[in-house]
Amino acid sequence: MGVLYTAIQHAHSGLRWIVLILLIVAIARAMSMRSSGTVYPGKDKWALFGLISVHIQLLLGLLLYLWLSPYGVAADVPENAGTSVATYYNWVHWWVMILATVLITVGYSKAKRQATLNKGWKTIGKYYIAGLVMILAAIPWPFYPGLSSVGLG
Ligand code: HEM
Repeated sequence: MGVLYTAIQHAHSGLRWIVLILLIVAIARAMSMRSSGTVYPGKDKWALFGLISVHIQLLLGLLLYLWLSPYGVAADVPENAGTSVATYYNWVHWWVMILATVLITVGYSKAKRQATLNKGWKTIGKYYIAGLVMILAAIPWPFYPGLSSVGLG
């Protein structure tokens, strides 16, 4: 269990950079395609990669939250219950991340239906920017007060 927890914690921590890079690439691409007047083809490879990375992150996060992490549902570890770290993971991190994932998923599938209206790039841009801002805010960065003592940083 300890090895699995460490492996998934590391994967979840490292994947943040892939999520952030893919979302930034998808947003930059959507903005440049839109300004060059390119018609949205109904799907976009980079927007899809961004979507998939966020979904994998969600899956790893759920494994941590529901099962492996001492800061998630299993925060019945007495020294963690009610601490700012447990509160953060139970009330901030997972709610904001799930909402961001929903926004990005809605943006991707809404854009698909707008291919003929040629609004797709704008929709990708709007929803992905909103999701990215939420993800950036809800990552437990090492400089967040009260969280510096936990995790891999
Ligand atoms: C795109 C979405 C997400 C990103 C970028 C993200 C990023 C991170 C990062 C960077 C950490 C710190 C890891 C460390 O250095 O120790 C973390 C921890 C954690 N995340 Fe996420 N996360 C996301 C979504 C989620 C979701 C949806 C859940 C729950 C359903 C979740 C549950 C957790 C838990 C429980 C921890 C604490 C792990 C531990 O140290 O025991 N995450 N997350």
